[in-house]
Amino acid sequence: MIFTSPEMLLFALLSTLLRPVISKNVLLIVIDDLGSTDLSPTPPSLPPGSTPLLTPFLTSLYTSPNSQPLNLHTSPQCTPSRSSLLTGYTPETLGLSHYVLVNGQDLSIPLQFPLLPQYLPNHTSHLFGKWHVGHARNSYTPLERGYEIFKGYYLGSTDFFEHVNNEVCCCEEVCSPLRTNSSFNQSYIDLQGYDVTLPSGYSTDIVTEDVLKVIDDYDGEKDFFLHVNFPATHSGPDGLPQYKESDVDPDLYARSPKRAGFDAMLKNLDSNIERIFKSLQDKRLLDGTLVIILSDNGGETSSGASNYPLRGEKFTYFEGGIKTPAMIINSDKMVVDRIVGMEDILPSIIDDLNHDLIVTTNTLFEGESIFKSSSREYKVLLDPVYHCGTVFYSSYKLVVNGTCGYDVIFNKPYLGGWSKPDDSYDNKPSIPKNINEVMLFNLNDDEEERVDLSEAKKDLVEEMLKVYKEREREVRGLERQSIMLGDDIEIIRPKGGGKIGPWLPD
Ligand SMILES: *[C@@H]1O[C@H](CO)[C@@H](O)[C@H](O)[C@H]1NC(C)=O
Ligand SMILES: *[C@@H]1O[C@H](CO)[C@@H](O)[C@H](O)[C@H]1NC(C)=O
Ligand SMILES: *[C@@H]1O[C@H](CO)[C@@H](O)[C@H](O)[C@H]1NC(C)=O
Ligand SMILES: *[C@@H]1O[C@H](CO)[C@@H](O)[C@H](O)[C@H]1NC(C)=O
Repeated sequence: MIFTSPEMLLFALLSTLLRPVISKNVLLIVIDDLGSTDLSPTPPSLPPGSTPLLTPFLTSLYTSPNSQPLNLHTSPQCTPSRSSLLTGYTPETLGLSHYVLVNGQDLSIPLQFPLLPQYLPNHTSHLFGKWHVGHARNSYTPLERGYEIFKGYYLGSTDFFEHVNNEVCCCEEVCSPLRTNSSFNQSYIDLQGYDVTLPSGYSTDIVTEDVLKVIDDYDGEKDFFLHVNFPATHSGPDGLPQYKESDVDPDLYARSPKRAGFDAMLKNLDSNIERIFKSLQDKRLLDGTLVIILSDNGGETSSGASNYPLRGEKFTYFEGGIKTPAMIINSDKMVVDRIVGMEDILPSIIDDLNHDLIVTTNTLFEGESIFKSSSREYKVLLDPVYHCGTVFYSSYKLVVNGTCGYDVIFNKPYLGGWSKPDDSYDNKPSIPKNINEVMLFNLNDDEEERVDLSEAKKDLVEEMLKVYKEREREVRGLERQSIMLGDDIEIIRPKGGGKIGPWLPD
């Protein structure tokens, strides 16, 4: 796949609009590691006897008349997904499809790619919550890439109460050739004043308060782009859910502490998103706001999320790792029924705001507006370092080394089965004896990926595998190398002190 010049695209977009743009606020809510079926009105996975709906608000949004669901398939991890969302390009092209950014890593979305807020020059762009697409140099950070306000975390996996990330790059396998053992504290940052004072409270509440303040102060002068990257429902630094005790359902806790913890995070998130909507409603802004809500990747069942009855989880290329809940609200346009990738979201926002020229010609973005049918015959997602990925073609899905990301990262074989979040596996008869290197499913009648058709449809497998291999060859050289910083690095900013980066000059 060839991209000519993203800057050219930005220039074209800003200078040659065919029709007047629509004045509209934009609210983009990204949930972290939400399970594929966590918003289901009847969660198929909760322990028997306990089906209180924990996301009454989000679930009601899903079924509201102004809302349209998206058949979103993301990368199975955070940084690849988010970089794609922000650029309109696939993570493979960006060279970021392999793993997530780790603490102290000198890497970011390549600077020649403009980010979403840069396509919205008439909006005031705010970012709250998690960033996780570059932090070692000033030029990688939100204020240098189109946002006027940023408050939040540069990395993932930040403690929900302490607001620091003391992550150490875990192992040669993941970090190599990066330097291991680096330990830099990442904390909640108020970049308006380089204020490194840690806030007190629970991160979902803090992020919500920041958002409410923007809405409250809004004077109607300029449209806003509010980008809210909630750290929830990602696990805390120890891999378990971090929640407020007051949100826990004691009955559920007695049966499944892990799921109860996850549900407590989710319940809190749901009510905070409701507060944001209510605030927009009170200011009479809701109808004029395009809202997109999605998750960056599938749920981590080991921390209580539910993808059930879908197969697999975060880090895997089965549906449970890459099919995530997503909806668009208050668009006047109709979403076309097709597989949507993260790279499609940016062109869709631009399309909704009536920047017709770029989106119809579709020459430069890899993503395509969700309001138009796709010119893509195949959709490929892959990790050229771990040699795994997937290809979609019509209703067929080819899975190559489907669990490999999980296997390598956690250094244990993953069964690749159908996991319930209540600490148990559904293992009769669902756990496969082994995972074939190449598998084929027909999602039309087998969304749970239970019947491997690769033996029965050898020609199709060959065809799709060829597409996969071609794409792998194409992007292999793009995978970006980076170095880890040492503890002795000179701290460039912030002035407030503390080792929160950026550390390197631009
Ligand atoms: C920004 O606003 C100006 C003035 O209303 C308008 O001419 C221009 O088309 C807008 N550009 C974009 C990209 O929204
Ligand atoms: C990381 O730490 C371990 C244990 O302290 C040490 O043996 C190893 O040499 C360190 N590796 C690097 C690259 O600093
Ligand atoms: C990181 O923060 C912890 C407290 O949360 C502190 O004990 C530790 O010294 C800090 N480490 C660095 C490298 O600043
Ligand atoms: C599956 O993974 C193995 C080990 O990384 C790799 O050698 C092989 O090429 C992968 N299979 C395909 C079809 O890419």
